[in-house]
Amino acid sequence: MNNKTLGRFITVEGTEGVGKSTNIDYLCKLLKEHGVEVVLTREPGGTPLAEELRELLLTPREEKVSQDTELLLMFAARAQHIENVIRPAIERGAWVISDRFTDATFAYQGGGRGVELENIQLLEKLVQHGLHPDLTLLLDLPVEIGLKRASARSAPDRFEQEKLNFFEKVRAAYLMRADNEPERFAVIDASRDLESVQVQILTAVKKYLDS
Ligand SMILES: Nc1ncnc2c1ncn2[C@@H]1O[C@H](COP(=O)(O)OP(=O)(O)OP(=O)(O)O)[C@@H](O)[C@H]1O
Ligand SMILES: [Mg+2]
Repeated sequence: MNNKTLGRFITVEGTEGVGKSTNIDYLCKLLKEHGVEVVLTREPGGTPLAEELRELLLTPREEKVSQDTELLLMFAARAQHIENVIRPAIERGAWVISDRFTDATFAYQGGGRGVELENIQLLEKLVQHGLHPDLTLLLDLPVEIGLKRASARSAPDRFEQEKLNFFEKVRAAYLMRADNEPERFAVIDASRDLESVQVQILTAVKKYLDS
């Protein structure tokens, strides 16, 4: 297939309540105004089976969930998502916008839980077959502010029940990944008002719209 007809793959990342959902709505609207076919999706989830795995992952439960189980369920959902939704969409020229992707696994299971990075990298290779986002918008915000924004909304899921220290580690892991891959990442200061956040997003996406 001619490269020109391929779509783009943009992921939106960040800890709880940083404004991912709010700004994804804005981003999708922006892209549609430019005549782009947009596929909006999320992780874990994005297909019926992967959404069932999401339920299993997010529902608070008595039984202790092993780190490896959590990691494998995340990648099981991702394998399904990539094969049934993400890859076909990109191949037909659509732009896929995903609310979280593998950087979240590196941040939450790696940074937060302490899973060895090599194991995540191994699964990434196995499941993604070379697929990586073209652009990752990392919405960055002190974790307390995000948690406060998120808690105003709904009962905490299994991850949201974690302590502040967990999210500090998640945030640090995200920022480290952004530092290591500055070409792919745009770090957005999500502590600013919504309008300013959206200006930063527009700036980051613009070069992809023009090329
Ligand atoms: N820049 C901002 N300033 C103030 N409030 C904001 C800003 N961005 C988003 N919010 C508000 O913060 C709350 C959380 O936003 P949102 O649901 O988009 O975050 P999220 O990153 O998707 O959260 P989650 O990780 O739980 O999915 C919402 O009530 C939203 O209106
Ligand atoms: Mg959200």
